[in-house]
Amino acid sequence: MVIRTEVHGTAGVVFIDRPPVNAINGEVRSGIVDAITTLNAGLNKEPNSAPIDRIVLCGANSIFAAGADAGEFNLPPIEPGLPEVVATIENSALPVIAAIRGACLGGGLELALGCRARIADTKAQLGLPEVILGVVPGSGGTQRLPRLIGIKAALSMVPEGRAVNPTEALKIGLIDAIENDPLAAALTLDLATFKARPPISAMAIDELPADELSAAFASAREKVSKKLRGQRAPVEAIGLLERAVSADFVTGTTAERAMFLELRGTVECAALRHVFFAERGARVPYDLKTTSPASLDHSVVVGGGTMGAGIAYAMAKSGSSVTLVERDDGAVSVARDRVAGLFSAAVKRGLMTADKAEAGLAAMNFQAGYEGLAHAGLAIEAVFEDMDVKRQVLTALDKMMPNAVLASNTSYLDIDAMAGWLTDPSRLIGLHFFSPAHIMKLLEIVRGKATSKAALATGFALAKALRKLPVVVGVCDGFVGNRMLQRVREAAELLILDGAEFTQIDKVMREFGYAMGLYMTQDLSGLDIAWANRKRQAETRDPRRRYSRVQDLMCEEGYLGRKTGAGWYIYEDGKSPVPNPAAAQMIEAEAARQNITRRAMSDDEVLNILMLALINEAASLLGEGIAGRASDVDLVLVHGYGFPRFRGGPLFHADQLGIDAIHEQLKALEASDPVIWKIAPMIKKLAEEGRGFTS
Ligand code: NAI
Repeated sequence: MVIRTEVHGTAGVVFIDRPPVNAINGEVRSGIVDAITTLNAGLNKEPNSAPIDRIVLCGANSIFAAGADAGEFNLPPIEPGLPEVVATIENSALPVIAAIRGACLGGGLELALGCRARIADTKAQLGLPEVILGVVPGSGGTQRLPRLIGIKAALSMVPEGRAVNPTEALKIGLIDAIENDPLAAALTLDLATFKARPPISAMAIDELPADELSAAFASAREKVSKKLRGQRAPVEAIGLLERAVSADFVTGTTAERAMFLELRGTVECAALRHVFFAERGARVPYDLKTTSPASLDHSVVVGGGTMGAGIAYAMAKSGSSVTLVERDDGAVSVARDRVAGLFSAAVKRGLMTADKAEAGLAAMNFQAGYEGLAHAGLAIEAVFEDMDVKRQVLTALDKMMPNAVLASNTSYLDIDAMAGWLTDPSRLIGLHFFSPAHIMKLLEIVRGKATSKAALATGFALAKALRKLPVVVGVCDGFVGNRMLQRVREAAELLILDGAEFTQIDKVMREFGYAMGLYMTQDLSGLDIAWANRKRQAETRDPRRRYSRVQDLMCEEGYLGRKTGAGWYIYEDGKSPVPNPAAAQMIEAEAARQNITRRAMSDDEVLNILMLALINEAASLLGEGIAGRASDVDLVLVHGYGFPRFRGGPLFHADQLGIDAIHEQLKALEASDPVIWKIAPMIKKLAEEGRGFTS
């Protein structure tokens, strides 16, 4: 029974009991309607008990309800719909109180908005996050919320799907009280304080002066056009909040439901759901369930630079006792300052108290050398991206930590070669974090040829402790993410040599939904990282492979990006970046040197080439077994490389373009350049079988 009713004193308590998150499905909906109807009919009274005077709706566990069951999204509607359930709650003769613990989101909050009062515990989270899945609330949320909390507060929540904590919820009037035990509080709540209230649907929206109102809507629109650019649901959500002001409740809810049903069928919604389910699927694989990971109580990070400091900080914050090893005393002190900087940034942002930050830093060890580390369960090296340095560090760890799982945070280098330096190669794993390591959610867990199950399980345990999204990848130059990045960069370099503009590539990518185009991003992270990489790869590069020297020339001229004031763009304080004319000159010169007559290209052609490069490379990664699932590739690109979430990732996008269309276009490209555009066998196979990547 997902809905259970108990009588507590004068209250009929309706528990939603559908672990783990009380997702609202058909059974929950009909159960609530039945429970409320039964209680109102007086059928549930225990003998000799006082008459029931209220109903309390609450979660049976530490969650109220985290939303509608996304698994029902693709099914035909199952009666009763949530709007009817909320109406049943609202029209109940016995007043209903929501006792809210934990998540009260989406459909969960819509249920609570049907109630006459809402009492939450200190850990509650209240919000309408529907836009995150590409839809709008569909059961009165956009019409009741502004009636309860005012249009400005509603605009600060719904269009971005932002949830509020209980303190804010109390301030804006979303809840009536914060209590440690909301159920107990609801049982004793003075009826007179809320029984006389009108249902929210009958409340008038607070009136704001017309200019203030239109300014509020304009600013909300502007905000989503920046933060959620290209997405429809947030814009429609604002439109519905506007409806709440201009139309009556019935008109508003009818429009809301119609919009919800329409958006449910959009590609945007399917893409966001695809990513959502891919995220949920990123957890310990079945065959590792019974494998014990190494203990993370004590851990070691070697190298306290950009990445090492972030990793060490994140691990310390998660409760591990961390030792950070650096080269010498000077480097130790720089690394400690770097980690201290991360702690104080957290304090500044209100994420940690100053005391906690001080204690956290004091609990970490910083040292030069490897003494006293034998008891730690995991060591991660994040030293320079150089095989000699990595060898020195890993062989030292091999000696000093004979039992630990050892990990490398290398971006590109060969994990199997590194494993060969160890007495027991099976304990090496790649753990590829993304920068900033304490913020970015993605973690590529690199499985080498010899990697043991215990080492893999440790990678997953670490991901869990750090709340990261783990994706297992195989060994190749750059693993999944950086290999795809290299390929799309190569495609872009050749596009600009052939006639596209680098500013055009950035514009096209932004229009597609990236926060930043390839060239702006390169300027931000520095052109020298990829330069070093290209130098490393030069010896093994296929001489038949087309190559543009422009990026190398840029580096040689000192145009390394923002850090040198100029890269592809020129950066001057207080001014917007402008394209660097030197880049255009180098492109022209390189094209002339290669006898290329540059031609203008349409934005569509440019986008198409970039996408085909990504898709073909992803198909190769799948075919080679470097990536296990299409959804893994999508996760990596969305979480590590800025691919727009609402496009679902390159392989979800590929399925929208259609495998046949992709195959045909790749055939034409392969005919013109069989080296760079060699079609991945998986594309041919899928085209033959008429299947997509993700379906
Ligand atoms: P970094 O240059 O900022 O830091 C490297 C640190 O290692 C320095 O503090 C250096 O003193 C220390 N170090 C060098 N040799 C050492 C030794 N023998 N013993 C102890 N410490 C030593 O480099 P960054 O950017 O932090 O990169 C580190 C690793 O992480 C590289 O393998 C890189 O490819 C990888 N990586 C970098 C990313 C980035 O965005 N920077 C992203 C993902 C991975």
